[in-house]
Amino acid sequence: MALLIDHPCVQHKLAIMRDVDTGHKRFRELATEITKFVCYEALKNVKTKEVIVQTPIAKASCQKIDTDLVVVPILRAGIGMLEGILELIPTARVGFVGLYRDEETKQPVTYYERFPPQIKGGTCIIIDPMLATGGSTVVAIDHLKKSGAGNIVVVCIVTCPEGVELVEVAHPDVRIYAAAIDDHLNEKKYIVPGLGDAGDRLFGTTH
Ligand code: PRP
Ligand code: URA
Repeated sequence: MALLIDHPCVQHKLAIMRDVDTGHKRFRELATEITKFVCYEALKNVKTKEVIVQTPIAKASCQKIDTDLVVVPILRAGIGMLEGILELIPTARVGFVGLYRDEETKQPVTYYERFPPQIKGGTCIIIDPMLATGGSTVVAIDHLKKSGAGNIVVVCIVTCPEGVELVEVAHPDVRIYAAAIDDHLNEKKYIVPGLGDAGDRLFGTTH
């Protein structure tokens, strides 16, 4: 299932991000800002426990997060969302999965994987700005589950119906949170209208 974060503050920032004339510095800043909002929603139902806090006036019954949070950026573009999520949850642990889409087949190829042990029993948040065919996200979830993760959510910036469906079929237990669910994929498996190649735009590797 995919949940769309259609708050005007998010949509305003996304409009600037999509603009072909937005340079990599501003693109990166916007990725950080949008990630914070989308993650905020994604963590809405995270497990909490009651704690009693002594205020200067009286004891207060409060709630604190009661699960290990593990953020897993899909390299390389996922790194562009890491700063935003760590501003929201500074104590989160970070794991990595390195994947790229083969240019011919468009299938994801894994080149790196490293997860902290807290993925077992904790809450894992996969971050990647683009969920296109969904292949990379499905493989990232496969790796996490094989390593013992049980509770996984995906936070992206832009996705599309084809990608959402692939993840839903392969991993019906995993929720996707996105700032946009766009129209379709083009023949090169890029999201339309999308925002182009997120990795290149984040890291300034376009010509
Ligand atoms: C992009 C993007 C996702 C993937 C999405 O990464 O960041 O990881 O493509 O496509 P999919 O849903 O069809 O699998 P890319 O392979 O371009 O690598 P990069 O992050 O290193 O640029
Ligand atoms: N990867 C991207 O960076 N953009 C897309 O539209 C699809 C895959």
